Amino acid sequence: MAILEVSHLEKKFGTTQVLQDISFSLEKGQALSIIGASGSGKTTLLRCLNFLEKPDGGSISVGGTTVFSAEDSPTQYERDIRTKRLHFGLVFQNFNLFPQYTALQNITLACELLAKEHGGENHTLIEETGRALLEQMGLADRADHYPYQLSGGQQQRVAIARALALHPDILCFDEPTSALDPELTGEVLRVIRTLAEKRTTMIIVTHEMTFARDVADQLIFMDGGVIVEQGDPHQVIDHPRRERTRQFLAHYAEES
Ligand SMILES: Nc1ncnc2c1ncn2[C@@H]1O[C@H](COP(=O)(O)OP(=O)(O)OP(=O)(O)O)[C@@H](O)[C@H]1O
Ligand SMILES: [Mg+2]
Repeated sequence: MAILEVSHLEKKFGTTQVLQDISFSLEKGQALSIIGASGSGKTTLLRCLNFLEKPDGGSISVGGTTVFSAEDSPTQYERDIRTKRLHFGLVFQNFNLFPQYTALQNITLACELLAKEHGGENHTLIEETGRALLEQMGLADRADHYPYQLSGGQQQRVAIARALALHPDILCFDEPTSALDPELTGEVLRVIRTLAEKRTTMIIVTHEMTFARDVADQLIFMDGGVIVEQGDPHQVIDHPRRERTRQFLAHYAEES
Protein backbone atom coordinates (compact mmCIF):
# COMPACT_ATOMS: atom_id res chain seq x y z
CA MET A 1 0.00 0.00 0.00
CA ALA A 2 1.19 3.50 -0.77
CA ILE A 3 2.25 5.57 2.23
CA LEU A 4 1.08 8.71 0.40
CA GLU A 5 -1.74 9.06 -2.07
CA VAL A 6 -2.50 12.47 -3.57
CA SER A 7 -5.63 12.57 -5.71
CA HIS A 8 -6.82 15.33 -8.01
CA LEU A 9 -5.43 18.09 -5.80
CA GLU A 10 -6.46 21.63 -6.79
CA LYS A 11 -5.36 24.99 -5.45
CA LYS A 12 -6.31 28.51 -6.47
CA PHE A 13 -5.01 31.82 -5.22
CA GLY A 14 -7.88 34.20 -6.01
CA THR A 15 -8.76 33.36 -9.58
CA THR A 16 -5.33 31.96 -10.43
CA GLN A 17 -5.25 28.18 -10.64
CA VAL A 18 -1.88 27.24 -9.14
CA LEU A 19 -2.34 23.46 -8.86
CA GLN A 20 -4.54 21.50 -11.21
CA ASP A 21 -5.47 17.84 -10.97
CA ILE A 22 -2.30 16.78 -9.16
CA SER A 23 -2.28 13.02 -8.56
CA PHE A 24 0.56 10.76 -7.53
CA SER A 25 1.40 8.12 -4.99
CA LEU A 26 4.52 7.26 -3.09
CA GLU A 27 5.53 3.93 -1.57
CA LYS A 28 7.11 3.75 1.86
CA GLY A 29 10.89 4.01 1.52
CA GLN A 30 10.75 5.70 -1.86
CA ALA A 31 12.06 9.12 -2.86
CA LEU A 32 10.19 11.37 -5.26
CA SER A 33 11.88 14.29 -7.00
CA ILE A 34 9.85 17.23 -8.26
CA ILE A 35 11.33 19.55 -10.87
CA GLY A 36 9.83 22.47 -12.76
CA ALA A 37 10.30 26.11 -13.66
CA SER A 38 9.83 28.94 -11.19
CA GLY A 39 6.14 29.49 -10.49
CA SER A 40 5.08 26.01 -11.58
CA GLY A 41 3.51 25.29 -8.18
CA LYS A 42 6.14 23.09 -6.47
CA THR A 43 6.25 24.99 -3.18
CA THR A 44 2.48 25.34 -3.13
CA LEU A 45 2.17 21.57 -3.49
CA LEU A 46 4.51 20.96 -0.52
CA ARG A 47 2.68 23.60 1.51
CA CYS A 48 -0.64 21.85 0.79
CA LEU A 49 0.81 18.52 1.95
CA ASN A 50 2.05 20.19 5.15
CA PHE A 51 -1.29 21.88 5.89
CA LEU A 52 0.23 25.32 5.41
CA GLU A 53 -2.18 25.94 2.53
CA LYS A 54 -5.65 24.51 2.22
CA PRO A 55 -6.31 22.91 -1.18
CA ASP A 56 -9.58 23.68 -3.00
CA GLY A 57 -10.10 20.20 -4.36
CA GLY A 58 -8.95 16.61 -4.15
CA SER A 59 -7.68 14.51 -1.29
CA ILE A 60 -4.53 13.41 0.52
CA SER A 61 -4.16 10.05 2.28
CA VAL A 62 -1.31 8.85 4.46
CA GLY A 63 -1.00 5.13 5.15
CA GLY A 64 -4.52 4.57 3.86
CA THR A 65 -6.10 7.23 6.09
CA THR A 66 -7.54 10.34 4.49
CA VAL A 67 -5.90 13.35 6.15
CA PHE A 68 -7.39 15.89 3.76
CA SER A 69 -10.50 15.82 1.63
CA ALA A 70 -11.99 18.85 -0.07
CA GLU A 71 -15.38 17.39 0.88
CA ASP A 72 -14.63 17.86 4.58
CA SER A 73 -16.30 20.63 6.55
CA PRO A 74 -14.06 23.38 7.99
CA THR A 75 -14.45 21.75 11.42
CA GLN A 76 -13.26 18.40 10.07
CA TYR A 77 -10.35 20.16 8.40
CA GLU A 78 -9.26 21.80 11.64
CA ARG A 79 -9.79 18.69 13.75
CA ASP A 80 -6.46 17.18 14.84
CA ILE A 81 -4.68 19.39 12.33
CA ARG A 82 -1.48 19.41 14.38
CA THR A 83 -1.45 15.62 14.52
CA LYS A 84 -2.15 15.44 10.79
CA ARG A 85 0.75 17.84 10.17
CA LEU A 86 3.09 15.47 11.96
CA HIS A 87 2.83 13.01 9.06
CA PHE A 88 5.03 15.40 7.12
CA GLY A 89 8.35 17.06 7.84
CA LEU A 90 9.45 20.10 5.89
CA VAL A 91 12.93 21.41 5.19
CA PHE A 92 12.94 24.90 3.70
CA GLN A 93 15.28 26.65 1.30
CA ASN A 94 16.37 29.16 3.96
CA PHE A 95 16.77 26.69 6.85
CA ASN A 96 14.37 28.68 9.10
CA LEU A 97 16.18 27.72 12.30
CA PHE A 98 15.20 29.53 15.49
CA PRO A 99 18.06 32.04 15.91
CA GLN A 100 17.76 32.23 19.70
CA TYR A 101 18.26 28.47 20.21
CA THR A 102 21.32 26.25 19.86
CA ALA A 103 21.56 23.52 17.22
CA LEU A 104 20.51 20.90 19.77
CA GLN A 105 17.63 23.02 21.09
CA ASN A 106 16.39 23.61 17.54
CA ILE A 107 16.17 19.85 17.12
CA THR A 108 14.58 19.02 20.49
CA LEU A 109 12.22 21.97 20.94
CA ALA A 110 9.17 20.53 19.15
CA CYS A 111 9.64 17.13 20.83
CA GLU A 112 9.85 18.79 24.24
CA LEU A 113 6.65 20.73 23.58
CA LEU A 114 4.83 17.60 22.42
CA ALA A 115 6.05 15.67 25.45
CA LYS A 116 4.86 18.46 27.73
CA GLU A 117 1.41 18.28 26.16
CA HIS A 118 1.00 14.53 26.00
CA GLY A 119 3.37 13.26 28.65
CA GLY A 120 5.52 10.35 27.58
CA GLU A 121 9.03 10.91 26.31
CA ASN A 122 11.35 12.34 28.90
CA HIS A 123 13.85 15.13 28.61
CA THR A 124 16.93 12.90 28.74
CA LEU A 125 15.66 10.64 25.97
CA ILE A 126 14.73 13.59 23.77
CA GLU A 127 18.17 15.11 24.21
CA GLU A 128 19.89 11.79 23.49
CA THR A 129 17.88 11.43 20.30
CA GLY A 130 18.79 15.01 19.35
CA ARG A 131 22.48 14.33 19.88
CA ALA A 132 22.28 11.11 17.88
CA LEU A 133 20.68 13.02 15.00
CA LEU A 134 23.39 15.68 15.16
CA GLU A 135 25.99 12.94 14.98
CA GLN A 136 24.21 11.39 12.01
CA MET A 137 24.45 14.80 10.31
CA GLY A 138 28.18 15.01 11.07
CA LEU A 139 27.57 17.81 13.59
CA ALA A 140 28.23 16.13 16.94
CA ASP A 141 30.60 18.93 17.95
CA ARG A 142 28.15 21.70 17.04
CA ALA A 143 25.37 20.92 19.53
CA ASP A 144 25.80 24.13 21.51
CA HIS A 145 26.39 26.44 18.56
CA TYR A 146 23.79 29.00 17.61
CA PRO A 147 22.65 29.28 13.98
CA TYR A 148 24.77 32.41 13.37
CA GLN A 149 27.85 30.37 14.36
CA LEU A 150 27.12 27.74 11.69
CA SER A 151 27.68 27.73 7.93
CA GLY A 152 24.65 27.55 5.65
CA GLY A 153 25.33 23.88 4.99
CA GLN A 154 25.58 23.14 8.71
CA GLN A 155 22.38 25.09 9.38
CA GLN A 156 20.58 23.10 6.73
CA ARG A 157 21.80 19.83 8.24
CA VAL A 158 20.44 20.97 11.63
CA ALA A 159 17.14 21.74 9.88
CA ILE A 160 17.09 18.20 8.44
CA ALA A 161 17.80 16.74 11.90
CA ARG A 162 15.01 18.89 13.33
CA ALA A 163 12.54 17.52 10.78
CA LEU A 164 13.67 13.93 11.41
CA ALA A 165 13.33 14.31 15.18
CA LEU A 166 9.53 14.24 14.85
CA HIS A 167 9.62 10.96 12.86
CA PRO A 168 7.56 12.14 9.92
CA ASP A 169 6.14 9.53 7.55
CA ILE A 170 7.24 11.69 4.65
CA LEU A 171 10.12 14.15 4.71
CA CYS A 172 9.73 17.04 2.25
CA PHE A 173 12.53 19.26 0.97
CA ASP A 174 11.87 22.55 -0.80
CA GLU A 175 15.00 23.42 -2.79
CA PRO A 176 17.21 22.54 0.17
CA THR A 177 20.42 23.70 -1.49
CA SER A 178 19.44 26.73 -3.53
CA ALA A 179 20.62 29.18 -0.85
CA LEU A 180 24.01 27.46 -0.61
CA ASP A 181 27.38 27.84 -2.33
CA PRO A 182 28.36 24.89 -4.50
CA GLU A 183 30.76 23.39 -1.94
CA LEU A 184 28.12 23.55 0.80
CA THR A 185 25.50 22.17 -1.59
CA GLY A 186 27.54 18.95 -1.81
CA GLU A 187 27.47 18.27 1.93
CA VAL A 188 23.70 18.70 2.12
CA LEU A 189 23.09 16.55 -0.96
CA ARG A 190 25.28 13.84 0.57
CA VAL A 191 23.11 13.81 3.69
CA ILE A 192 19.94 13.51 1.60
CA ARG A 193 21.55 10.74 -0.45
CA THR A 194 22.35 8.83 2.76
CA LEU A 195 18.74 9.24 3.89
CA ALA A 196 17.60 7.81 0.55
CA GLU A 197 19.95 4.85 0.99
CA LYS A 198 18.33 4.27 4.39
CA ARG A 199 14.97 4.23 2.62
CA THR A 200 13.61 7.41 4.18
CA THR A 201 10.38 8.32 2.41
CA MET A 202 11.03 11.70 0.82
CA ILE A 203 9.74 14.32 -1.59
CA ILE A 204 12.52 16.52 -2.91
CA VAL A 205 11.84 19.70 -4.84
CA THR A 206 15.12 20.63 -6.47
CA HIS A 207 16.83 22.40 -9.33
CA GLU A 208 19.75 19.97 -9.16
CA MET A 209 18.76 17.85 -12.14
CA THR A 210 21.45 15.19 -11.83
CA PHE A 211 20.71 14.80 -8.15
CA ALA A 212 16.95 14.67 -8.80
CA ARG A 213 17.55 11.87 -11.30
CA ASP A 214 20.03 9.85 -9.28
CA VAL A 215 18.50 9.99 -5.81
CA ALA A 216 14.85 9.33 -6.62
CA ASP A 217 12.73 6.32 -7.48
CA GLN A 218 10.16 8.53 -9.16
CA LEU A 219 10.24 11.97 -10.74
CA ILE A 220 7.58 14.55 -11.52
CA PHE A 221 7.99 17.46 -13.92
CA MET A 222 5.53 20.27 -13.24
CA ASP A 223 4.69 23.23 -15.42
CA GLY A 224 1.95 25.81 -14.94
CA GLY A 225 0.41 23.94 -12.02
CA VAL A 226 0.03 20.60 -13.76
CA ILE A 227 2.07 17.41 -13.84
CA VAL A 228 3.39 17.29 -17.38
CA GLU A 229 5.40 14.10 -17.04
CA GLN A 230 6.02 11.60 -14.28
CA GLY A 231 7.77 8.28 -13.97
CA ASP A 232 11.20 6.74 -13.79
CA PRO A 233 13.73 9.57 -13.15
CA HIS A 234 16.19 8.36 -15.79
CA GLN A 235 13.41 8.02 -18.32
CA VAL A 236 12.06 11.54 -17.68
CA ILE A 237 15.42 13.35 -17.50
CA ASP A 238 17.34 11.44 -20.17
CA HIS A 239 14.49 10.53 -22.53
CA PRO A 240 11.59 12.91 -21.90
CA ARG A 241 8.45 12.06 -23.81
CA ARG A 242 6.84 15.49 -23.77
CA GLU A 243 7.99 18.54 -25.67
CA ARG A 244 7.52 20.80 -22.60
CA THR A 245 9.84 18.59 -20.56
CA ARG A 246 12.45 18.64 -23.35
CA GLN A 247 12.29 22.44 -23.54
CA PHE A 248 12.63 22.83 -19.78
CA LEU A 249 15.61 20.49 -19.59
CA ALA A 250 17.30 22.06 -22.63
CA HIS A 251 16.81 25.55 -21.20
CA TYR A 252 18.15 24.32 -17.90
CA ALA A 253 21.23 22.72 -19.47
CA GLU A 254 22.01 26.03 -21.21
CA GLU A 255 21.92 27.94 -17.93
CA SER A 256 24.05 25.60 -15.89
N1 LIG B 1 0.20 33.16 -1.16
C1 LIG B 1 0.07 33.35 -2.48
N2 LIG B 1 -0.83 34.21 -2.97
C2 LIG B 1 -1.00 34.37 -4.30
N3 LIG B 1 -0.29 33.72 -5.24
C3 LIG B 1 0.63 32.85 -4.81
C4 LIG B 1 0.87 32.62 -3.41
N4 LIG B 1 1.86 31.69 -3.30
C5 LIG B 1 2.22 31.37 -4.56
N5 LIG B 1 1.49 32.05 -5.47
C6 LIG B 1 1.59 31.93 -6.93
O1 LIG B 1 1.44 30.56 -7.23
C7 LIG B 1 2.26 30.18 -8.31
C8 LIG B 1 3.12 29.00 -7.89
O2 LIG B 1 4.04 29.43 -6.91
P1 LIG B 1 5.05 28.44 -6.20
O3 LIG B 1 5.77 29.22 -5.19
O4 LIG B 1 4.29 27.23 -5.75
O5 LIG B 1 6.00 28.03 -7.40
P2 LIG B 1 7.40 27.24 -7.37
O6 LIG B 1 7.27 26.17 -8.41
O7 LIG B 1 7.70 26.81 -5.99
O8 LIG B 1 8.45 28.32 -7.88
P3 LIG B 1 10.00 28.54 -7.47
O9 LIG B 1 10.78 27.54 -8.29
O10 LIG B 1 10.31 29.94 -7.87
O11 LIG B 1 10.13 28.32 -6.00
C9 LIG B 1 3.06 31.41 -8.68
O12 LIG B 1 2.43 32.01 -9.78
C10 LIG B 1 2.96 32.28 -7.47
O13 LIG B 1 3.04 33.64 -7.80
MG1 LIG C 1 9.27 27.21 -4.68
